[in-house]
Amino acid sequence: MFSFEVNKIAGAVLGALLLAMGLSVIGDMIFSHPHLETPGFAVAVAPEAHQAAPAAAAVAPLPERLAKADVAKGQAAAKACAACHSFDKGGAAKAGPPLYGVVDRPKGSVAGFSYSDGMKAKGGEWTFDDLDHFITSPKSFVSGTKMSFAGEADPQKRADIIDYLHTLSDAPAALPGK
Ligand code: HEC
Repeated sequence: MFSFEVNKIAGAVLGALLLAMGLSVIGDMIFSHPHLETPGFAVAVAPEAHQAAPAAAAVAPLPERLAKADVAKGQAAAKACAACHSFDKGGAAKAGPPLYGVVDRPKGSVAGFSYSDGMKAKGGEWTFDDLDHFITSPKSFVSGTKMSFAGEADPQKRADIIDYLHTLSDAPAALPGK
């Protein structure tokens, strides 16, 4: 009788232990504890975040730049345009319209050239200022332009190019500042 009682107690203790073990295994299965390689959590900081953006260099007004412009340098720089543009009088369209006489020409006006809607809608003539803005960033000046040229960031180089473009005419317009 006595040993029967002991067996009952031992059985109950064993059962309780098994139950506790089982619950702990199930608990681990439900709540996983990912192991952290480095304790704490990472705070992403961009390397340049602490440096102030360099102030954009002041760009001299176009007439000032045109006064210092060099046609020969502009012609050399315009080689970047020649893949898509003819500079010859009566030149044919390439990927872009011919540029002979472009200064003061109405925008998007070469007959037969298929301009973008943005260019057709732009309006006005190609003034020195508009050329400067367009060459700086074609996309920003004419939204949806077909001219896939990233832009010329050097302000003096743009003035050189404009000086050269302005010579492509039977009667070149007066260059401001010259
Ligand atoms: C990858 C080819 C490509 C390059 C390079 C390129 N252009 Fe163009 N350009 C075009 C195309 C295409 C158009 C027509 C844009 C439109 O319809 O939106 C255009 C239009 C123009 C126009 C407007 C002409 C008009 O009849 O209204 C000017 C001005 C111009 N380009 C100047 C330049 C200059 C200056 C350069 C070099 C600094 C240059 N382009 C480089 C393809 C190019």
